[in-house]
Amino acid sequence: MRGKFITFEGIDGAGKSSHVEWLAEWLRSRGLVVQVTREPGGTVLGEKLREMLLNDSMHLETETLLMFAARREHLAQLIEPALARGEWVVCDRFSDATYAYQGGGRGLDRAKFQILERWVHEHVQPDLTLLFDLPLDVARERIVLASRILDRFEQERADFHERVRQAYLERAHAHPSRIQVIDAHNSLDNIRKRLEQIVITNCL
Ligand code: TYD
Repeated sequence: MRGKFITFEGIDGAGKSSHVEWLAEWLRSRGLVVQVTREPGGTVLGEKLREMLLNDSMHLETETLLMFAARREHLAQLIEPALARGEWVVCDRFSDATYAYQGGGRGLDRAKFQILERWVHEHVQPDLTLLFDLPLDVARERIVLASRILDRFEQERADFHERVRQAYLERAHAHPSRIQVIDAHNSLDNIRKRLEQIVITNCL
């Protein structure tokens, strides 16, 4: 039986990453084989592209094409073979991030996004997407508190991140059965309980 594909999304600082490994461990404790991965990245080539995407400035369409190039490789090398073997894949960001960041944040034409999405993964969509949502000021505070060097996206102005957040919510509205919105304000324990409940209802 084909495995399940679960993705995590949200604006920078929404706190999704701390839950990725936890969810994988929880699934493993139920006897499942789970691959944990991320985008951009997840393959040797994809991680090289990530370096460039997070650090080098480039034209919006170059950025979008490189995101999808890394994704194509990721699907071919890791995601599709794992799902075909019956393993589960838990991925930190996927195409909804391109929709939100390049589309919402930077204003990429939605028709171009759709062409690339159809080209690169017409027959593969996440079975479930967990969208961590948080007001911008709280998310920014978390990033500042982390006090590390910020990447090209994290350095963007507040209005960019607000557009990213709105695009994510709009996408969730358009795909209500796939995308579940998590209130990232909640305590770690409450978020974990909600994740368990959503995964049991939607995937198990
Ligand atoms: P992120 O998961 O935030 O990495 P980290 O937790 O290490 O900071 O992802 C890196 C950035 O890449 C993030 O700011 C969003 C951006 N991104 C896009 O702009 N488009 C995409 O399609 C993807 C996958 C990520």
